Parts: sequence; C-alpha cells; structure tokens
Amino acid sequence: MTKVAIVFHSGFGHTKVVAERVKAGAESVPGTHASLIPVEEIDAHWADLEAADAIVFGSPTYMGNVSGPFKMFMDASSKPWYERKWKDKLAAGFTISGSPSGDKLNTLQSLMIFAMQHGMVWVGIAELPQNDEGTNRLGSFSGVMAQAGQVSPDLEPNLEDRKSAERLGQRIATATARWAKVS
Ligand SMILES: Cc1cc2nc3c(=O)[nH]c(=O)nc-3n(C[C@H](O)[C@H](O)[C@H](O)COP(=O)(O)O)c2cc1C
Repeated sequence: MTKVAIVFHSGFGHTKVVAERVKAGAESVPGTHASLIPVEEIDAHWADLEAADAIVFGSPTYMGNVSGPFKMFMDASSKPWYERKWKDKLAAGFTISGSPSGDKLNTLQSLMIFAMQHGMVWVGIAELPQNDEGTNRLGSFSGVMAQAGQVSPDLEPNLEDRKSAERLGQRIATATARWAKVS
C-alpha cells in the first residue's frame, strides 16, 4: 500500500470539503491508503507523516496566504525538517478562498516552498483549464484552487472544484505508486 497523508486546516469547513475530495480521489487508485489530518491534531500524527509516501497540504487563503493555524503547523515541522524526515516524499497542495482570485497563488507558493524546504518533490495539476469535465476551473497548475462564497460548505465549493480536488488526489496517488517503484 502506498500512503498519502492530507494535512489541512479549515476554519469554517470549506477546505475540509476539498480535503475530503482529495482523499476520495487518492483512494480511487488501487493500493492507496489516504488519511486526513487536521492541523489541530498534528501532535498525534507526526509519525504518520514520517511513514507517508506523499503528503498533500491544504489551507484556506486567509489574508492572501496560508491561515495562522496552518502556519503554526509549518513552523512546528522544524524537527522533521532538520532530520530530513520528509526528503524525497511527493507533495502537492490545495487552497480555497472567497474570491475567484483572492490571491490564492501566494498560498500555493507558500505550500510549495514549504515542501521544497523539506526536500520534497512537488506534483502539480495536469488538466487544462476549463476542460470538458469542468476541472481546473480557475486555471491553476501549481495546485488546486477552489472557491466558496459566504455560504455553507454543503453548497460551495461547487462540483467542478470538488472534481478538481479528486483529480489531484488521483494524480498524487498514481505518481506515488510510480515513485515508489524507482526510489
Ligand atoms: C481571516 C480570513 C481571511 C480571509 N482572507 C481571504 C483572502 O485573502 N482572499 C479571499 O478571497 N478570501 C479570503 N477569505 C475567505 C476564505 O478564504 C473563504 O471563506 C474560505 O472558503 C474559508 O475556508 P474554510 O471554511 O476552510 O476556513 C478570508 C476569510 C477569513 C476568515
């Protein structure tokens, strides 16, 4: 089994919906076990991250960047950073914001740089923007961008953004299986 861990923060539930779809997409790839780890529970899960083959990072965009609780997790990862525990694991990321842009690229860049600091290998998005399936609606190649207005997470992110998250889960799980064969 390849193991994909999804570490996320969600203040109001929208990022959690995206994280759940990433998990479902990853688990649709045979031989993959995926787990959701809220940053609030990270202290019980450092060993799970060390055991994972891939880690997907997810944060809402707050003030044009990762949320405060997600940044706390990033800073708390200095021990595995120093010990190179996540080196050569695959990584990917997702974010959601209220506006179509909302400065989400900055959040994804923060997640990417974080993964690079850990010596990880970043996996992006392959689908063309606004394809027949409707995925990659907001046209991002560095990670999933989703959007939700001031409505319940039951209503938004919309189906296309949820499907985009599933596609990322499938891609990271498939890439992880290939990576495990050669590393
Ligand atoms: C403190 C705070 C800052 C926010 N900053 C932004 C922002 O910079 N750009 C944006 O488009 N939306 C922003 N939003 C909206 C959130 O990104 C949006 O509601 C998102 O769906 C929240 O995800 P969550 O429910 O997982 O917390 C902000 C919301 C909060 C609470």
